[in-house]
Amino acid sequence: MTDRIRDFLRVRRDLGQDEGPVMVLDLDVVRDNYTAFARSLPDTRVFYAVKANPAPEVLSLLAEMGSCFDTASVPEIEMALAAGATADRISFGNTIKKERDVVRALKLGIRLFAVDCQAEADKIARAAAEAGVATADVQVFCRILCDGAGADWPLSRKFGCVPEMAVDVLEHAHVQGLHAYGVSFHVGSQQANTEAWDGALASAAMIFRECALRGIGLSMVNLGGGFPTQYLKAVPGVESYGDAIFRALTKHFGNQIPETIIEPGRGMVGNAGMIEAEVVLVSKKSTAEDEVRWVYLDIGKFGGLAETMDESIRYRIRTEHDEDRMSPCVIAGPTCDSVDVLYEKQHYPLPVSLSIGDKVLIEGAGAYTTTYAAVAFNGFPPLRQIVI
Ligand SMILES: Cc1ncc(COP(=O)(O)O)c(C=O)c1O
Repeated sequence: MTDRIRDFLRVRRDLGQDEGPVMVLDLDVVRDNYTAFARSLPDTRVFYAVKANPAPEVLSLLAEMGSCFDTASVPEIEMALAAGATADRISFGNTIKKERDVVRALKLGIRLFAVDCQAEADKIARAAAEAGVATADVQVFCRILCDGAGADWPLSRKFGCVPEMAVDVLEHAHVQGLHAYGVSFHVGSQQANTEAWDGALASAAMIFRECALRGIGLSMVNLGGGFPTQYLKAVPGVESYGDAIFRALTKHFGNQIPETIIEPGRGMVGNAGMIEAEVVLVSKKSTAEDEVRWVYLDIGKFGGLAETMDESIRYRIRTEHDEDRMSPCVIAGPTCDSVDVLYEKQHYPLPVSLSIGDKVLIEGAGAYTTTYAAVAFNGFPPLRQIVI
């Protein structure tokens, strides 16, 4: 926890304003993260993945620092524009777009789009005609599948196509008059293996070669996100990722290294945010001595901690009694829904002295929390965010 967050929470408590869970996000940490990405991957443009945390303060800071933005929808494009990014610094990186949204994006000045099949490239070509934009001015990159091995939050088969098909998709885009610009992939979110980019870069290099044989000169590789934040398990620093990626680029592209882009989300904002929540109930399901305790918090899966699904993301939870003896607990949220359990398969050690009304601090909560919170499930309001 940063000193600024600690001071902020203390003042808030002294003023008696600490009702309900809150996520506090320290912009200084985001600033440091951006600097670390820019230093570790010096010849790469950073496109912050807005979906990780679209707080206007975060977007404005990053826009000021020179970041570009990866967006998933027209509202995210509008948020990035409102934060001061120009349209040439924004990509529409979702491979699943309504054609009318592509038209709207083009009218807002966006010229960089992701595709993973010919039908999506067709939509973009038609949308360009409707928006009165020359197809040659519209850049498309084709996303390829990655197995997500080594990632705590793999992105499955939903996005991308096999590398061999990407060659055809890019050729199709080229025939439509679009600018076939390059290849993208995502190695899976919270990727702990710095070597995970190697296989995807080998495929990207193959696609570049095949397209060249068909007379299409690709020039860009979008290396995606996947850079981890610190939860319970230790993870390598961003410099190690930069080194491994540079080695893989050199290995597969030799002295013709393409233009590169990264799209960090979690790695940019995860460690900047901390949730303060409250213990609502501590109980047992039987009087047996060895029965685990159930600790119910005022935040759960529907209040912003959706990434505890399948216990994929294991947050570090701190309490004021962490010096005491620990015992295994099940941790659950406050709603009347039985799936609202955070950790049960693998019990979570918490201090035996933890009791009703105590505050807990959930670290590494700056990414994929506030926007995941339900609007009013069971009457609970969405997670509040305060940016300091
Ligand atoms: C296209 C795209 N880029 C970047 C990201 C950000 O990934 P991460 O938070 O792992 O950095 C995502 C996350 O889902 C994504 O879908």
